[in-house]
Amino acid sequence: MCDEWMPYLQLPITFAQFRQLPRNAAYKYEYYHGRAWLSPRPRYYHALLDLEAWAAPPLEGANRKVKLRPVQTADWEGLAPLFAAAFQQQQPFCGLDEERALTAARQALEHTRSGSDGPWIEQASFVAVAGDAGPEIGAILVTLLPDSDPSSWHSYHWEEPPPPDALARRRGRPHLTWIFVSPFETGQGVGTLLLSAAVHELLALGYKQLASTFLIGNDSSMLWHWRNGFQLLAYPGSWRRRFEEMEEAT
Ligand SMILES: CC(C)(COP(=O)(O)OP(=O)(O)OC[C@H]1O[C@@H](n2cnc3c(N)ncnc32)[C@H](O)[C@@H]1OP(=O)(O)O)[C@@H](O)C(=O)NCCC(=O)NCCS
Repeated sequence: MCDEWMPYLQLPITFAQFRQLPRNAAYKYEYYHGRAWLSPRPRYYHALLDLEAWAAPPLEGANRKVKLRPVQTADWEGLAPLFAAAFQQQQPFCGLDEERALTAARQALEHTRSGSDGPWIEQASFVAVAGDAGPEIGAILVTLLPDSDPSSWHSYHWEEPPPPDALARRRGRPHLTWIFVSPFETGQGVGTLLLSAAVHELLALGYKQLASTFLIGNDSSMLWHWRNGFQLLAYPGSWRRRFEEMEEAT
């Protein structure tokens, strides 16, 4: 969803100023005709979590005071402000005003609700609330994607719609489509608690792996995945991989 919300920027600055410009990994930086040209270039990396290995040792770092509940129908609309707030330091949200950020958040959640990110796995998706009935402070939304090679460009979309009983037949591979925590509650184990609940439900459904995706430049997401044992997969556009494919074809 990133590219469509990220503007192309032209900055009339000197080359010396261009060299000093702080960089964001989701943009390409070029300088010509006396201007800096910044073009969106979001790059997504994929990672995989071994559910049994993750669930085996005693859980560390999860917040025990926060309560979890299933996702309710009203949450698809109600979680949009929390979603926009959680992503406010990340591309593309950091470049949007409040109203557009909310629209982008609603669109992202609707994409997931409608099945465009793969069938939504309701059992493995949760909302975190402060106290017994307190405000929502985070959520995890898991969907089902094909279980083809997860480091291929094409593995993040179903070519044919999956059967309606895909979950019961343990088809596909669960994908952590969204996890977000209120900026006032981060770093206190809410994300880890949400992941733990999702992992236990996925194991109960018979799945062994959870795939995930993160945007290069979203440091908190990358560190969180790493800290929680996700293994980085080969980048689909890796040069090494392309050379290997070319060698195989000759
Ligand atoms: C990523 C996110 C869900 C993590 O939630 P959280 O509740 O803060 O995570 P936890 O407290 O359970 O885990 C904290 C661990 O994650 C890592 N981490 C998370 N945010 C970090 C940050 N800003 N800087 C450094 N490390 C961070 C650390 O390794 C930390 O471990 P530690 O406490 O032992 O140092 C939250 O930061 C968030 O909502 N980010 C914005 C939305 C987003 O990017 N979502 C992921 C892509 S869908």
